[in-house]
Amino acid sequence: MITVFGSINLDMVIRVADFPRPGETIPTKGFAMSAGGKGANQALAVRRAGGDVRMVGLTGKDSHADLALALLKADGVDLTRTEVCKESTGLAFIQVEDSGENTIAIVKGANGEVSVATANAALADLGGGDILLLQQEVPLASIDRAIDLAKSAGARSVLNTAPFQEEYIPLARKADVVISNETEFDALKPGSEPRLERAEAYAAETGRLLIVTLGADGAMVVEPDKEAVNVPSPKLDKVVDTTGAGDTFCGYFCKMMADGADPVTATRMAVKAASLACCKNGAQPSIPFAADVK
Ligand code: RIB
Repeated sequence: MITVFGSINLDMVIRVADFPRPGETIPTKGFAMSAGGKGANQALAVRRAGGDVRMVGLTGKDSHADLALALLKADGVDLTRTEVCKESTGLAFIQVEDSGENTIAIVKGANGEVSVATANAALADLGGGDILLLQQEVPLASIDRAIDLAKSAGARSVLNTAPFQEEYIPLARKADVVISNETEFDALKPGSEPRLERAEAYAAETGRLLIVTLGADGAMVVEPDKEAVNVPSPKLDKVVDTTGAGDTFCGYFCKMMADGADPVTATRMAVKAASLACCKNGAQPSIPFAADVK
């Protein structure tokens, strides 16, 4: 079983030709509301990859929650550990420009209420073969506790270091597997050496399996005391929207890991899935199904 511990958002997305400059007012090319949140997106990616997955997180008691959970429900993510709290459902305000790049501003809402008590209540029965997938969009103390619970249960923890926050850096040294994008990794292990050298040094000194995603260039797989392996990405004719591509990567990677795939094989599948996720609008609506990836 794969358990995702993290955030649930409703995404408010506008498309623009180019991001506005400070003080500028611009017309949009369209608006849509769709389900999002890094945790929820990753849970849906596990499910669409064909895995059994449960989502641990919080929403408000509001209509935004219905929209935020709609695709998870429809696709069969186990929501028995997704609770309601007094805060309103988390929101993400997203701008996507013609290049497919985005900017995201978050109203944390219920995600800010995820606590050590949430972890204790929802993760008490983690088992030896389980995988716990986490991101950094809920409070640090709750993630820290969740990783400890996984460790004492003999489950493997996979931490996606998004969104990057300075004070969360120590968490990456506790998780069994770390998935970072290039910018996050550069902040995790700064230095003037080439990224490949820093990645190999980081994996060797922490003993962690490290995956660095490289956008259009695929991903780098770094196992402790081994040479890094580069996994290229398929070339896309047009990038529509990169929102949720990283989440798709994490979900597919964990499903492959749960099936016993080695890190490079898991990364190959995850890179393909993440590339496909860039071909459609929205975070959750763009997550591909396994049959499409294959
Ligand atoms: O990773 C993409 C996600 O980041 C969006 O769905 C948004 O909700 C933010 O959490």
